[in-house]
Order: sequence, then structure tokens, then C-alpha cells
Amino acid sequence: MAYFLLSILAYVIGSIPFGLIVGKLGYKIDIREHGSGNLGGTNTFRVLGIKAGIIVTAGDILKGTLAASLPFLFQVDNVYPLIIGIFAVIGHMYPLFAKFKGGKAVATSGGVILGVSPLIFIVMIISFFIFLYITKYVSLSSMLTGIITVIVTIVLQNVGLAIVTSILTLIVIYRHTANIKRIMNKTEPKITWM
Ligand code: G3P
Repeated sequence: MAYFLLSILAYVIGSIPFGLIVGKLGYKIDIREHGSGNLGGTNTFRVLGIKAGIIVTAGDILKGTLAASLPFLFQVDNVYPLIIGIFAVIGHMYPLFAKFKGGKAVATSGGVILGVSPLIFIVMIISFFIFLYITKYVSLSSMLTGIITVIVTIVLQNVGLAIVTSILTLIVIYRHTANIKRIMNKTEPKITWM
């Protein structure tokens, strides 16, 4: 029962569409109609600028962290936080409050990892920016960071984290199908500020 209730709560938390809220309230813009059309931090940076991008990215990360912290917050033992976190990622991708059209799972997945292992989250942030510096593609850097995270969890022999990060990384890669096609066509936008 605890699994069921916390998973539902995590899905609802993950469904909070920060990109839509910040865009509509602050700028009267639906970011799904601009840029890549994605309801995530990257497209918010692209369409609305640095301030909105930081707010949306932070909000999307914290959704995952909060969801993974629910078993602790409700003092429920024997519920695996990473499983609950996955439901926030599902909510982020298919949000109840935004016609089930959401983001690409990157920031919220990172937030889930932050909730269970801040050290691995720091490794993720560092590798993301190294990949971004080298490739200039946010999408490719997100996918490569997912792969690095899986390798790190395997090296650390953390079986639970290795399984969940593998699932999350496969989800992230699947959600980037359009980006992969654009990278191959050389039409994926590169960042210009780094
Ligand atoms: O976080 C999603 C990012 O990896 C790609 O976003 O808007 O460039 O498709 P976007």
C-alpha cells in the first residue's frame, strides 16, 4: 500500500510542469510552441533566457529529489526511494497537468539520483559540463552523462542504483530520438556560450 500511495504522490509531484508555469506566468509564452517544443530546462533557457532556465531546471531537479525523499519524509521503511523516484520521472514525461506532454527526463532523473546519492549527482554535473564543453550539444551531453552514471554505479557495485540508472538512461535516450536524428543530420542546435 505504501508503495502505491507514494508512487501516486511521486507521479503528481513529477507532473508539475515548471516549464509551462514559468513560461505562462512570467512571460505569457507556452514554451511547447517554441524552440524544440520540449517542456524542459534546456528549451526554457533557449526560449526564455537564463533566469527562467535556471528556475525551471532547478524545479525539475527538485521534483525528482522530493519524490525520492518521500519514503524518508513519511518515515516508511522497506520502500525503495529509487522506485518512487521513477514515478516522478514518469510524471515529468507524461504530466497530469499538461496534457501528458512533458520533458525528456534528464533533470528529474538527476534529481532522483541527488535524493539518494549527492556524490554521484556531483559526478553527473561534472561529466555533463565536460561533455557539453567538448560537444556543445545539450542533448548528447545528457545521454552521455546517463551512460557515465551507469558505469559509475557499476564500478561502485551498487546493484540497485546500477539497475535504476540503466532504466533511467534508456528512458533518456529513447526520449531523445528526435535529437539523435537531428545530430546525425547536423541540424541539432549547439550551444554558443561555452
Ligand atoms: O533536457 C533535454 C535536453 O537534453 C534536450 O532538450 O530542448 O534541446 O530537445 P531540447
